[in-house]
Amino acid sequence: MITLENVSKTYGGTSGIVALRDVSIHVKEGEFLVILGPSGAGKSTLMRCINRLVEPTSGRILLDGREVTSRRRQLRAARRDIGMVFQQFNLVKRLSVLMNVLSGRLAYHTFWPSLLYKFDQDDKRVAIECLTRVNMEHKAFQRADTLSGGEQQRVAIARALAQEPKVILADEPVASLDPKIARQVLTYLKQIAGELGITVLCNLHQVEYAREYAERVVGLSQGTVVFDGPSGKLTDDILQQIYYRDPEAADDDG
Ligand SMILES: Nc1ncnc2c1ncn2[C@@H]1O[C@H](COP(=O)(O)OP(=O)(O)O)[C@@H](O)[C@H]1O
Ligand SMILES: [Mg+2]
Repeated sequence: MITLENVSKTYGGTSGIVALRDVSIHVKEGEFLVILGPSGAGKSTLMRCINRLVEPTSGRILLDGREVTSRRRQLRAARRDIGMVFQQFNLVKRLSVLMNVLSGRLAYHTFWPSLLYKFDQDDKRVAIECLTRVNMEHKAFQRADTLSGGEQQRVAIARALAQEPKVILADEPVASLDPKIARQVLTYLKQIAGELGITVLCNLHQVEYAREYAERVVGLSQGTVVFDGPSGKLTDDILQQIYYRDPEAADDDG
C-alpha cells in the first residue's frame, strides 16, 4: 500500500540537518502502524514526504503501486487518497462540526462548494456516517470551538474519513490529550484500520501507547529506522536505541 524505498531528507542543502536517513518501510493495506520516536527523530518529516509537503532528497515513495511525485496531477490524486490528522486538530473554529467534516469532501469537487455552503445530499450522508463512526453525530450542528480537545480530534478524524482516503496519516494525534481521552482516540484510529481497511500511520512519542495499540512499530532514532516489528518485541535495549540522543545534538531540543 505504502512503500518507502531508501528515503532520505536533508534540510538546508548538503551540509544541513539530516532528518531521514535511508528509510525503507512497506505498509500493507489496512495496517495500523505506529512510528515511534522522540522529538526530532524525523516522524513528521516522514509523513510530509508521503504527502509531498516535503520533497525527499533521495529515494522513492509508492502509494498503491504508483510513485508519488511532485507533478501536479499525480500529486492531487495522491493527496485525495491521504487523510491527515494533526496534534492540534486544525478545525475551523467558527464553523459547525458538520461543515468541518464536509470540508473533507472538497477533494471531490472542482469548485469550492463551501464558498456557497452548498454540498449535495451525498456529501452530507457521507459526513454524517463519518461522524457516527466516532460517535460525534449528536454534535453535528455545534460550533467546533465549543468542543473539548478529544471531541475536536474525533471530528478531525471524521473529516479525514469524509475524504474517503486509502491512507490516514496521524501526526502525534494524542500529544495534546489526557491519557484517558488519548486512548479513546487511538481506539478509533485502530478501529478505522481494522474495520474499514484504511491504512493508518500514527506518529507517537510515548512507548506505552505504542505497546498498547500498535500491531507493528517502526522505531525512528535521529532519522534512522532502528526497529521494525511487533510491539511485543520492544525490549529495553531497543527502546534505548530509539530514545538515544547524540550528546553533540543534546542542546537542539525539538
Ligand atoms: N522545515 C525544516 N527545516 C529545517 N529543519 C527541519 C525542518 N523540519 C524539521 N527539521 C529538523 O529535522 C529533524 C526532524 O524533525 P521532525 O521530522 O519534525 O521530527 P519529529 O516529528 O520526530 O519531532 C529535526 O532535527 C528538526 O529540527
Ligand atoms: Mg513531529
